[in-house]
Amino acid sequence: MEVFYTSKELKSRLSEIRTQGRSVGFVPTMGSLHSGHASLLHLAKSQSDAVVLSIYVNPTQFNNPDDFASYPHMLQDDLELAQLLEVDLVFVPETKDLYEGVPSAMPVDYGRLTHSFEGAKRQGHFDGVVAIVRKLFQIVQPSRAFFGEKDLQQLAVIRELARREFEDLEIVPCALIRDKDGLALSSRNVRLSPVERTVALQLNRSLMRLKMAAAKGLGGVLALNTEQLELKNTPGIDLEYLDVIDPETFQTAEPDRWSQGHAVLAVNLGSVRLIDNLFLGE
Ligand code: PAF
Repeated sequence: MEVFYTSKELKSRLSEIRTQGRSVGFVPTMGSLHSGHASLLHLAKSQSDAVVLSIYVNPTQFNNPDDFASYPHMLQDDLELAQLLEVDLVFVPETKDLYEGVPSAMPVDYGRLTHSFEGAKRQGHFDGVVAIVRKLFQIVQPSRAFFGEKDLQQLAVIRELARREFEDLEIVPCALIRDKDGLALSSRNVRLSPVERTVALQLNRSLMRLKMAAAKGLGGVLALNTEQLELKNTPGIDLEYLDVIDPETFQTAEPDRWSQGHAVLAVNLGSVRLIDNLFLGE
């Protein structure tokens, strides 16, 4: 495994790889790797000749400075896991290599994709995501890039970025991974107290009940309101949103379209913000 700390050195190594006719797969991350990232890397390895993993906690996508300050950094553990997973190249850039001066991001308007749900609750979040992913795509120039469905809206935004600016790049989605008890894996889970960790199990339960309602043809306002109330009334949970959407457009799904929709939610548990989603179809 080769580790690169500058884009210049990485680019030069990648140009050798491409000259040999080898395809490059890319998995961008903010580190604190868990089994969800491992599944992305497995898929990337199975579909690419050389896999690049980037580890960079991007300041411009954090709307909350405390969240940025408390985001876990585990570089040594991450490098060990990457080695175990036989990642070929790891890119650990410094901020000055990616941003000129004070890091900032230009506004991005992809309609509902950037302005509903996560985009509305986390002002500027997708501006930062698009800014960093665009820079990383320009540096790595992969033929495939792998993104988790855990961040369903981010996946839709990145697909739109690729459609507009990187037409030869394939965006490959990877299934959301849950712990045995149903909690969606997230780097932020380490910040949950044991009590919050137990309370967080309500998220998957609400999503599952919506899936059951959809299967019985009972999708609609009543089912949604019931689960919103259930979450709002759970001590410790501060619900930001729970809705059922079309994953391509992020428009709210009509009840007769629930079986093609995803339930999406965001909550705060103490100082930890969690998102989750579930496909409501078969
Ligand atoms: O999903 C993430 O970890 C980040 O949003 C990403 C895509 C690495 C950009 O910083």
